Amino acid sequence: GPARATEIRDLIHDVPDYPHPPIVFRDITPLLADGAALADVTDAFAALVEADGGVDVVAGMEARGFLLGAPLATRLGVGFVPLRKAGKLPPPVEREDYELEYGHASIELRRGTLAPGARVLVVDDVLATGGTAQAAARLVERSGATVVALAFLLELAGLGGRERLADHTVETLLRVET
Ligand code: PRP
Ligand code: MG
Repeated sequence: GPARATEIRDLIHDVPDYPHPPIVFRDITPLLADGAALADVTDAFAALVEADGGVDVVAGMEARGFLLGAPLATRLGVGFVPLRKAGKLPPPVEREDYELEYGHASIELRRGTLAPGARVLVVDDVLATGGTAQAAARLVERSGATVVALAFLLELAGLGGRERLADHTVETLLRVET
């Protein structure tokens, strides 16, 4: 309920001007360090997934998508697929390049990890411009798998992320105006 949402919100700390102005860094470390909060967030994600009809696998984006996605996969009784920053996985990989608020990046998926037709939930901590999530969805779809939904702990409204993902189901536990 709303009280719980407020508690979770208080465990995400805003750090102004990090890594540089005018970026406000959203630090989920306090939430991760709180066992009850981490369990609540995991349960809330699981409830959304169940409402969307279930998934075969959870995919998370390095690095913070790993931290929320792996416990969720365990909770759902499915596997976890890492979408890694470029250069971390051995070949063969598929790669997608994207823009961040603060620079360029690429993510990679080990080829053959996702079965064609698999129902995939994509998880990350923050939806900002949606560049990371769009790259993740493209990687999943290039495998012939289906993105059932993209789920985020925190949506930073006003940066265009939701609009950029308009072809997909987007679920967010918390939303703040930017
Ligand atoms: C952050 C955040 C999201 C992404 C959101 O990751 O964890 O993945 O940015 O931004 P976007 O919607 O504009 O793409 P970041 O690449 O900073 O690094 P980390 O997860 O490895 O800490
Ligand atoms: Mg990230």
